[in-house]
Amino acid sequence: MLGENKVLFSGMQSTGNLTLGNYLGALKNWVKLSDEYMCFYSVVDMHSITVRQDPADLRQRARNLLTLYIAAGLDPEKNCLYYQSHVSGHAELAWILNCFTYMGELNRMTQFKDKSSKHADNINAGLFTYPVLMAADILLYQSDVVPVGKDQLQHLELARDIAQRMNGIYGDIFTVPEPYIGKVGAKIMSLQDPAKKMSKSDENPNASIYLMDDPDTIMRKFKRAVTDSEGCVAYNDEQAGIHNLIDIYSACTGKSAEEVVKEFDGKGYGDFKMAVGESVVGVLKPLQDEYKRLQGDKAYIDKIIKENADKAQYYSNKTLRKVQKKIGFPVRPN
Ligand code: TRP
Repeated sequence: MLGENKVLFSGMQSTGNLTLGNYLGALKNWVKLSDEYMCFYSVVDMHSITVRQDPADLRQRARNLLTLYIAAGLDPEKNCLYYQSHVSGHAELAWILNCFTYMGELNRMTQFKDKSSKHADNINAGLFTYPVLMAADILLYQSDVVPVGKDQLQHLELARDIAQRMNGIYGDIFTVPEPYIGKVGAKIMSLQDPAKKMSKSDENPNASIYLMDDPDTIMRKFKRAVTDSEGCVAYNDEQAGIHNLIDIYSACTGKSAEEVVKEFDGKGYGDFKMAVGESVVGVLKPLQDEYKRLQGDKAYIDKIIKENADKAQYYSNKTLRKVQKKIGFPVRPN
């Protein structure tokens, strides 16, 4: 807790083109959650350098992502939308937490195993301690809840373990965060292989709808989406491609799966795919327009970046000073 409100923290990396899956599964939810919680939504650029990045590209993408947060409807006056690298406490707390995290724990992280096999030429220490930086992100704001996908649950579990371990030694210094597993977040699968999650790193561009795709591209990708030979719009696990299209259509229109099945009773896949494509265009078009408008307003975005970094710095310092004191660092004379 910070003051009266429960605190929520989440972050996204700015690497790769964001997809419809990122929007329907995460960003759209974040907007809903911002009514209920005091939210910190970070662009976690420090996490991004665990793999090599082109500097100009990294900087541009970080700005694009922050702009997208606002375009998606996150109010930058109400929420704290900021770059992780602008707030010194993340690195400072991460160091301290590193000293309370065991090699064995980090060795068990499945994402580390995955990533180190993919980047065998650059298995750096940052990649190994990535989950500790993530724990610092969360604990720094005394977060109560963290909305994360399944792939990040193991990291969140580690953050909880570190918090409990340090609370056990020093008394209550950290709120122990809970995962927020929302019912509303849709899990969107690849349009080309519905057994796989829609991913910004997919090599096949037809597998994903990118948030900045134009209407023609969106319609074309839905026309090509993999389905099956049943020929009837039904909601079951055997028809994984259609299942995914129903989920997308539901998320975009607010209709339940049953309503969708009824709506397309007796109709072919062609009609259904067109309707899904149009519903996605209907959701993305206003988002894209607002994004472009914001991109043109450099002064406004700069102001948001400055104000929100100051806000995050203020709250994070409270926790950091408390932790530094508890573990025995000399008090700063003022
Ligand atoms: N590791 C997360 C991901 O790749 C991003 C992230 C960094 C994060 N710090 C976080 C998510 C803290 C939630 C809370 O998706």
